[in-house]
Amino acid sequence: MKIYAVLLAAGTGSRTGLSIPKQLIKINKKEIILRSLEIFLKSKINFEAVIIATPPPSVFQFNWNDFFEKNLGNDEIEKLRIITGGETRQQSVDNSIKYLESIISPDESENTVVFIHDSARPFVTDKELHLLLDKTACHGAAFLCSEVTETIKEIKISNPAGFKTLKRDNLIAAKTPQVFKFKAIKKALEKAEGDNFISTDDVSLVENLGLTAASIISTDMNIKITSALDIEIAELFLNKFKNMKNK
Ligand code: CTP
Ligand code: MG
Repeated sequence: MKIYAVLLAAGTGSRTGLSIPKQLIKINKKEIILRSLEIFLKSKINFEAVIIATPPPSVFQFNWNDFFEKNLGNDEIEKLRIITGGETRQQSVDNSIKYLESIISPDESENTVVFIHDSARPFVTDKELHLLLDKTACHGAAFLCSEVTETIKEIKISNPAGFKTLKRDNLIAAKTPQVFKFKAIKKALEKAEGDNFISTDDVSLVENLGLTAASIISTDMNIKITSALDIEIAELFLNKFKNMKNK
């Protein structure tokens, strides 16, 4: 079995309100993207390559090759495949999977697994990667998630004062990594394109195909850095994460 990772880093991080994409913001002197990339490069799982989707130059001018060359060793750089993402997260996933298809043989595609991860999530442990891989082998797909602690209400667009309260016990919040057999995610992306189905995560795409995925509760640290405050929270997490990784 061949295992690849897709690291999504083509967003601009507009919700931070800062002028550079959030993946380039430093947490204790190291950029968020290097921290999330490290999860895959240092894993005991032997990733064949990590495909990194970066913003199109029309959106953000930056020399990504120089950046990685400056910050990584030769062995690490050899594993990277830097590509251009799309306007939406789903388009960035689509570009990454099309790229992956172009570098594997049709024989390999039967036996290839792909991890899809938001670069804005730098706190995933190697133990979680192993759990995801085991569950993918049994179920075809797996993802990290958390229990929901707030009460979630669905607003009716036509009447903002009207809403439906969802039963919390039945809810989970999807996180990444989300892991798939290559063929399943490829087919799911094709069907999504045909159906004009757009989602903010990838498991919904295989769900749209009628497939299931195993959910695994992640640690509370697996936040997606979204706001400027999240960057400060991430600084506070660093020590705890270091200790957790060593267990
Ligand atoms: N992403 C991507 N391509 C896009 C949009 C998002 O690869 N066109 C990536 C982001 O870089 C991020 C992940 O998908 O790591 C999750 O998206 P999100 O948290 O929404 O990041 P941004 O889109 O960058 O942030 P914002 O929505 O605040 O602009
Ligand atoms: Mg976004």
